[in-house]
Amino acid sequence: PTPIILDCDPGHDDAMAILLAVGDPRVELKAVTTSAGNQTVAKTALNARRMCALAKAFDVPVAAGYPKPLTSMLLIGDDVHGETGLDGWDFPEPEVPLHSAHAVDLIHGILADSPEPVTLVVTGPQTNIAGLLALHPEDKAKIKEIVCMGGATHRGNTLPYSEYNILVDPEAAHEVLATGVPLTYCGLNVTHQAPVTREVLDRILDVGTHISEVSAALLAFRSRTYDQIWDLPDAPLHDPVAIARVLDPSLVDCVEAPVSIELRGEFTRGATVIDLYGVTGRAPNALVATQLDTERFWDVFLKALAALG
Ligand code: BDR
Ligand code: CA
Repeated sequence: PTPIILDCDPGHDDAMAILLAVGDPRVELKAVTTSAGNQTVAKTALNARRMCALAKAFDVPVAAGYPKPLTSMLLIGDDVHGETGLDGWDFPEPEVPLHSAHAVDLIHGILADSPEPVTLVVTGPQTNIAGLLALHPEDKAKIKEIVCMGGATHRGNTLPYSEYNILVDPEAAHEVLATGVPLTYCGLNVTHQAPVTREVLDRILDVGTHISEVSAALLAFRSRTYDQIWDLPDAPLHDPVAIARVLDPSLVDCVEAPVSIELRGEFTRGATVIDLYGVTGRAPNALVATQLDTERFWDVFLKALAALG
C-alpha cells in the first residue's frame, strides 16, 4: 500500500476522506494531522479523533497543527459544517487520544523514519505543510507527492473566484507550490463531479452498518447547509476525491499546467490562476485534475465504507 499522511480540517467531507483512507487497503494511513479551517484547530483535531475512533483506526496518530493561517485571519466554515465542525451526529468521547506532538513535528518524524517517500494528502488550508517545508526544507526528498483538494479551474465557492481551502491561507498554498514538490490539485471542477445525490445517500444507508448510519446523517446535515447557501442539495463530496486520486490515479484525470495563487487581487485573493491553454507561456508547475470517473468513485467509496464493518 501507498503510505499517506492526511492533513485535514474535519469537516464532513474530510471525515469521509478519513473513512475512505482507513477502509481502502491500497493506502496505509500513517497519521492524521489537522489544520484550522472548517473549524478551530482544537475542534478539527477532536473531529479527526472521533472519525478515527469510529473507523477503529486506533493505531493512527492524530495531531493538531497551527491555530491560524500564516498571515490571514482564520475564516471558519461553520455555515457549512456547524458549530462543532461535524454537526449532524452526537459523538461519544473518542477512544483515540490527541498526540502530544505538533502536527509538523509528527509529520517530520514520520517522514524521517519512513524507508520510502510518503504521499501527503491535504484537504484543508495548507498552513501545516507550508510550516513543515519552511522548517525542514530537506523533507522535500521524503515526500513522494502532495495531492490536495483545493482551488478550481474556473469559479470558486467562497469568493466568486476563490475556493475555501486556498482562500483561508493563500500564502501557505503559494509557499507549498513554490517548493517544487510534485503537487496535484483536485479542485471544485472535479469535486463537483461527486454530488451526494439521494441515490448515493441510499447506497450509503444500504451498507447497513453503524458507520454508514453516521456517514449518512453527517452528509444529510451538510446537504441541508449546501442547499441553504448554494442552492445545491446534492452537496459535492470534495475531499475524498483527493484520496481517490492516490488510490487509483485513473479515477481522476489530470493535466499539467502552470498554476499561481492570487495573493493580492482586489476581488480575487485566494484564486488559483490555472493556465489550461498555455497562454502565459509559463512552464507547468502542477498537475490539475480535470475529470472524475464518478461511477467508479462511488463504487470505491462504498466498498471502503463496507470494509470498515
Ligand atoms: C473545501 O472546503 C471545505 O469546507 C471542505 O472541507 C473542502 O475541503 C471545499 O471548498
Ligand atoms: Ca476540508
